[in-house]
Amino acid sequence: MLTGDQIDAFRRDGYLVVPDFVGLDACHELRRRAEEIVDEWEPSSERTVFTTDARVRVSNREFLASGATTWCFFEEDAFDADGELRQPKPLSINKIGHAMHDLDPAFERFTYTAPLAEIARDVGVVDPLVVQSMYIFKQPGIGGEVTCHQDATFLYTDPISVTGFWFALEDATLENGCLWAAPGGHCTGLRQLFKRSGTDDDGTVFEILDPTPLPAPPHELVPLEVPAGTLVVLDGRLPHWSGANRSARSRHAYTVHCISGAVDYPSWNWLQRPADRPLRRLDTVAR
Ligand code: FE2
Repeated sequence: MLTGDQIDAFRRDGYLVVPDFVGLDACHELRRRAEEIVDEWEPSSERTVFTTDARVRVSNREFLASGATTWCFFEEDAFDADGELRQPKPLSINKIGHAMHDLDPAFERFTYTAPLAEIARDVGVVDPLVVQSMYIFKQPGIGGEVTCHQDATFLYTDPISVTGFWFALEDATLENGCLWAAPGGHCTGLRQLFKRSGTDDDGTVFEILDPTPLPAPPHELVPLEVPAGTLVVLDGRLPHWSGANRSARSRHAYTVHCISGAVDYPSWNWLQRPADRPLRRLDTVAR
């Protein structure tokens, strides 16, 4: 799938932009299905808000359970002081995660494809297993920032193998909160690990490995403004970030994370699947 130049660019920069990887029809179909899932979703009394901020993740039992389910996470600003939604539910969801690729036929079709499996192999993921999927809405007006991070913090293997596949389902621009990346930043160390901890089933902790600050957004990163249908491949060590969406246009994206099946996946990773729902290889082609 990838040329030698593209593979070289991925190794040099830590990311690769692949234009026109998926058709606009497939993007539309995934958007339609995501909207249906949200439509059917009933918020629990104990609302779950997604942010990479440590305070919110800690003590969040639903988040830890979502590794094997389809769960809708609300935007931080979605509710007013009385706990009522400030805007209609379809415009209040931050993301859906983290196992739709194995639970929902539309997501399965989009994820398990021969071309994506080939790209994973091209960039060096041996025996790629799909560990996580996320549908990110980046809602108009309230879509929150995703702070600068390295994916290997959240999906660690020994040695590091996690690779992100980020699909633009709508045009991603500076105005609606496109992805930003730090070219070459994957050659620096992994800063921290996000681990399950303690005896509670909701305990997590960040363990510092390297105190060097991550690149400061936005000036130490470059924006990846891309049209719908574009795939961005991300090395698991690459620092990346996206800003809030204060525009009137949404910025839907879908991400898939793969790890190598040939390496160790520690049991302290936040995302754990039950024995009866094992991870599947990306080349388990559903279509
Ligand atoms: Fe990420």
